[in-house]
Amino acid sequence: MGAKKSMRARVAELRELIRLHDRKYYVDHLPEIADGEYDALMAELAGLEREHPELVTSDSPTRRVAGAPTEGFRTVEHAVPMLSLDNTYSPEELLAFDARVKKRIPDEPVEYVVEPKLDGISISLRYVDGRLDVAVTRGDGTRGDDVTTNIRTIRSIPTRLPGRRGVSEVEVRGEIFMPRSGFERLNRRRESDELPLFVNPRNAAAGSLKLRDPGEVARRPLEAFFYQIVGGGASRVATHLEAIELMRAMGFPVSPDITPAPHIEAAVERCLEWDDRRRGLDYDIDGMVVKVNSLEQQERLGSTAKSPRWGIAYKFPAEAVRTVVRDIVVQVGRTGRLTPVAILEPVFVSGSTVSRATLHNQDEIERLDVRVGDTVAIEKGGEVIPKVTEVVKSKRRGRPRRFRMPLRCPACGEPVVRPEGEVDTRCENVSCPEQVRGRIRHFASRGAMDVRGLGSALVRQIVSAGLVEDYGDLYGLEPSDLAALPRMGEKSAENLLVELEESKRRPLARVLHGLGIRHVGARVAQVLAESFPGMRELASASEDDLSAIEEIGPVIAASIRSFLGSPRNVEALRKLERAGVNMRGEPGRRRKTRTALAGLTVVLSGTLAHRTRHEAAAAIAEAGGRVSSSVSSKTDLVVVGRNPGSKHSKALELGVKTVDEAGLEKLLGTRERH
Ligand code: IVH
Repeated sequence: MGAKKSMRARVAELRELIRLHDRKYYVDHLPEIADGEYDALMAELAGLEREHPELVTSDSPTRRVAGAPTEGFRTVEHAVPMLSLDNTYSPEELLAFDARVKKRIPDEPVEYVVEPKLDGISISLRYVDGRLDVAVTRGDGTRGDDVTTNIRTIRSIPTRLPGRRGVSEVEVRGEIFMPRSGFERLNRRRESDELPLFVNPRNAAAGSLKLRDPGEVARRPLEAFFYQIVGGGASRVATHLEAIELMRAMGFPVSPDITPAPHIEAAVERCLEWDDRRRGLDYDIDGMVVKVNSLEQQERLGSTAKSPRWGIAYKFPAEAVRTVVRDIVVQVGRTGRLTPVAILEPVFVSGSTVSRATLHNQDEIERLDVRVGDTVAIEKGGEVIPKVTEVVKSKRRGRPRRFRMPLRCPACGEPVVRPEGEVDTRCENVSCPEQVRGRIRHFASRGAMDVRGLGSALVRQIVSAGLVEDYGDLYGLEPSDLAALPRMGEKSAENLLVELEESKRRPLARVLHGLGIRHVGARVAQVLAESFPGMRELASASEDDLSAIEEIGPVIAASIRSFLGSPRNVEALRKLERAGVNMRGEPGRRRKTRTALAGLTVVLSGTLAHRTRHEAAAAIAEAGGRVSSSVSSKTDLVVVGRNPGSKHSKALELGVKTVDEAGLEKLLGTRERH
């Protein structure tokens, strides 16, 4: 009884805390806790509610917004998987799409259709005997949530189809969205009810579909456009445009802006036009979709596991938005560099909320003349870290204080230095806790020792608990040390120790990269590992010995010597050696490994999501491949990332084999990451 009571109290306390932080985040825009801490509160509450369903209330924060657990909705398997579209960002990539289509459909005219890409939630509706039977979200593409009850409340979606004799089953797909005007109204209402505000219409639509109370969903201004008939229902039409017309006739809302384009050039023009025109719409679109009009051609083109070959999304270029600088803080990196960071009033840009942007260094701050309280323009493209591009001086009020780099490190309090002629200010205290954490995170990172499960939060915990002072101590961790950490179960402790044990066998190049020597990234580490029999020999090499190696210049050589000249670093290295971490190099190894990439000439085009260009090149080199910078008839393979540009088109032109990022990972034999 007593336990139950205290649990009840904990549930109430958690709800109160979450509401408080929701308010601070969404309303006051002054978050007080890190996202991770907020997530932990939410997870604890969801866990308690799962164990004690009798304590669930409809107003619990877990039932509320997007991102809340969706348990409670039945999951349903899609008869036809819900795929996603590949993205492009430039006219060239649209031309390359056309080239791929024409390759599979040679000697035939191909007509396209261009339509807005709605920024909402995709939905699949199945009608049986003319009645809405089930509405399912996309989910993971194979299975989604059954949200039929909520969908029924959307007035523009028909629950009965007119006279559908002979067609017992129809499945249509489209997008649920919230118009901007409705979104503004909803947020105003929430503001006066002192409820957390939604960040954007898409999140509001997602949150609404997950509500438990259909009555409340009915009050949400949701709309829908449908763009696809799947399965047998499409057999009576020959083109995508006819399918749209058929859906319209059946009573489904369809976009009024779907138009044919006789060739790809016309489609490109339409896409570019819409970047401007979209501002006149009352709903958000994040791009355009170009589709092959003929359904028979669509069928011949088919799909890859992920996306159809008959359609492609064109994403609009990064948006620049304005926001206010609330504060400028200083971050200390693993190398001791102090980076000023602007803390922004959260704004939604290109798909996510931005609340921080790097200001690089004192010089950059002076160049921009950015001060706390200023309105600034920020820009974000793809996955790049957002950047402050200019200060809107006309909006400056009063005489805001200029930012000055602190004279002491904000993490450890030691004096900082800015060497003459350099732009960076540094903390030179190797025991500075921020640096310690950063070095350990880097050591464990994917490109280095790849210790799964050792993420930032855990690194913070083990450093704060005094369990490790440098990466050398990682291998001395005991199961009991780890199990005593909050939120660390026995199982996760055990997994981490297994991962650490495994990491001891990583090649020397990775160990060297993990040490965090300035200027020694994956590529230089590889060169070093191939030039010395082992760590000992490397440690006793002089600066001249090092500079004699091709690809190692005097700056790198000096940096290596200086690193190895520090007793602390030598001590950390000793710990690694004593723990049994591999210290043998691969001298003279000239890519003897037999891997799928051995002997192949590979070109990287565009950006990858999981590796930097440098890391990818190093991994390919490690697997025995040769990375070249331009595509020619000698190229064996082109890896196509985001924004691939001309190398990709060239590959298509020359018929060179291409793979996407997942394909590359497969060839590298990388384990699946979770
Ligand atoms: S056609 C791949 N047309 O964008 C299945 N999709 O990744 C065919 N979307 O999940 C999709 N507007 O939810 C299509 N006019 C439109 C669209 C559209 C938005 C969404 C859809 C899909 C995602 C593509």
